[in-house]
Amino acid sequence: MNKTVLITGGAGFIGSNLALRLIDQGYRVTVLDNLSPQIHGDNGENSVLYRSICDKVRFIKGSVLSYADWKNALEGVQIVVHLAAETGTGQSMYEIEKYTDVNIKGTSIFLDILANEEHSVKKMVIASSRAIYGEGKHSCPDHGIVYPTERLDSDMKSGDFNVKCPLCSQNTDLLPTDEESKIHPTSIYGITKQVQEQMFMVMGKSLNIPAVAFRYQNVYGAGQSLSNPYTGILSIFSTRIKNGNDITIFEDGKESRDFVYIDDVVEATILGIEKEEAAYSIFNVGSGVATDVLTVAQTLKSAYQSNSKIHVSGNYRLGDIRHNYADLTHITEKLGFKPSVSFEEGIRRFTRWVEQQEVVEDKYEQSIKEMREKGLYK
Ligand SMILES: NC(=O)c1ccc[n+]([C@@H]2O[C@H](COP(=O)([O-])OP(=O)(O)OC[C@H]3O[C@@H](n4cnc5c(N)ncnc54)[C@H](O)[C@@H]3O)[C@@H](O)[C@H]2O)c1
Ligand SMILES: [Zn+2]
Repeated sequence: MNKTVLITGGAGFIGSNLALRLIDQGYRVTVLDNLSPQIHGDNGENSVLYRSICDKVRFIKGSVLSYADWKNALEGVQIVVHLAAETGTGQSMYEIEKYTDVNIKGTSIFLDILANEEHSVKKMVIASSRAIYGEGKHSCPDHGIVYPTERLDSDMKSGDFNVKCPLCSQNTDLLPTDEESKIHPTSIYGITKQVQEQMFMVMGKSLNIPAVAFRYQNVYGAGQSLSNPYTGILSIFSTRIKNGNDITIFEDGKESRDFVYIDDVVEATILGIEKEEAAYSIFNVGSGVATDVLTVAQTLKSAYQSNSKIHVSGNYRLGDIRHNYADLTHITEKLGFKPSVSFEEGIRRFTRWVEQQEVVEDKYEQSIKEMREKGLYK
């Protein structure tokens, strides 16, 4: 009999792509998703992502905050991939209750069912995030490996965006972050991801249900919400450009992220579902390459042959990190994962997809206004 996978948040960016690939490979898929308006617009049933999966899965429109919806969704399910979450780092700094409710309480309801009721779950996968590493792993000329804390407002105000050694305040050099690196998130979102991951690991061991956590880096690609101004800089920049707006880049434009293409993320997640070696393990998923944000903006601008201007503003958001990229040794050794889509190829695929989408309303200014009003955007 084919296995059934429950994907919570399966109408979202990663979830819908994962669902389609699993179906191709012969799995049956159940999706639990509330079609959140921030991702799917006011009429969620019309969203491109929802429509890409709705006829192919058992779809339950419901919330991870509902015990009854979880119970219904878990019917006959062997594998759970828990992706449903609130995902905006900046937004999490002023919608604290919403983020802890959906991400932590939502997870706790699922684990309560596993611990207290009959069920058929044999494996569970949780989406964690590079956000739990905060500034990540660095080296100081005098102190070797260090894990810097969040940058000081006073430094950034004067245009110094460098990450400093926590012991001597010298500038540090970035290193790839491995899974043993210190966990110290600088946002409420990051804290919720850390807690979700730990809850899965602790309860997995306690209940003898193999748990797997993936710390995804910055995922991008076809299907990423173009209307959500709170997360996904490639989508945010694309929507700016498609509306004929200019692009504002925070800090000095040299801040960097590890951009990993959706197909590679789906591949890694399926290895976690299928491989026994993944049990009770935590894996980074990334491209293993750091790309700075100015390069991202310039690459998109040229891909769309746009006249939008790029301003490097010197503004910054509290809670943002400077850099991060993944050390992939663990996932390569244990699961045989290697990213296969280069940044150049990923941008080609992503922009080709954007060109086929309707231009959506650009809500970016509104999101910045919110952050400024809360004192989080300087
Ligand atoms: N995309 C990234 O770069 C990235 C990076 C690190 C971690 N992650 C994690 O991966 C997971 C999936 O991310 P994504 O990029 O696909 O996000 P997404 O926003 O596209 O998808 C999330 C889905 O969850 C649904 N959802 C939200 N609240 C819900 C609720 N209360 N009940 C049921 N469904 C709900 C939304 O409607 C949406 O379809 C998240 O847990 C996120 O934290 C993503
Ligand atoms: Zn030092």
